[in-house]
Amino acid sequence: MRFTISTLTLAAAATALPSQHARTTTTSTSKGFNLVAHVTDATSDLTPSVEGLFLSTAHTGAGLNAAVLSAANGRLFYQNGTTAEDSDILTDGGTPLFPFSLQVQPAGEARRILDISVGQGTAGSVDAQGRLVNGLGAGAFLACRQVVPYYNQEFITLQYVYGDADPAGLEGCATIELVAKCAELNELPEGSLSSHEFAAEVKCE
Ligand SMILES: *[C@@H]1O[C@H](CO)[C@@H](O)[C@H](O)[C@H]1NC(C)=O
Repeated sequence: MRFTISTLTLAAAATALPSQHARTTTTSTSKGFNLVAHVTDATSDLTPSVEGLFLSTAHTGAGLNAAVLSAANGRLFYQNGTTAEDSDILTDGGTPLFPFSLQVQPAGEARRILDISVGQGTAGSVDAQGRLVNGLGAGAFLACRQVVPYYNQEFITLQYVYGDADPAGLEGCATIELVAKCAELNELPEGSLSSHEFAAEVKCE
């Protein structure tokens, strides 16, 4: 219900003050950001709701993490690269700090729990509306209840489905956007294997 009311309120505000509304959604930028789930099709939401959950990680092996959504411990991300087309989404972890990258399965491969692991990230960037875009192709992010085998336990996992089809009917999955929330990108301690040299300023809320 709160989702419906705030959507109506925003729609009304946008009608009344189009320029102001446009400005408030696009002015802030930051090199660091958290990624927060926003349910785009309320009928697909899970119970309890996944609205507002942070993108986080669940350790699944040396240098390997499953992308999961949780109420706390949102990871600090940055967009690494010189152009949006040539960027990936990174977060630092380990000792010394090294980069973990968001890795989405290519179009044509079976849908799976996304990884935030060592290795080359897949193309990804934050768009002018502050939303995460998968550079491998159009589709939708999903928050899906699924067992992570390493824990033999259910998590709210991040997945991605390609295509224009409405993914709302997918069992146990809510259709979401990942919204960048501005956060300060930390200074890296001496000896870090990560680099923030190519961290881009992105639009965020
Ligand atoms: C970050 O971006 C730079 C410039 O495109 C690239 O050389 C570097 O390999 C990237 N780092 C990671 C960890 O992807």
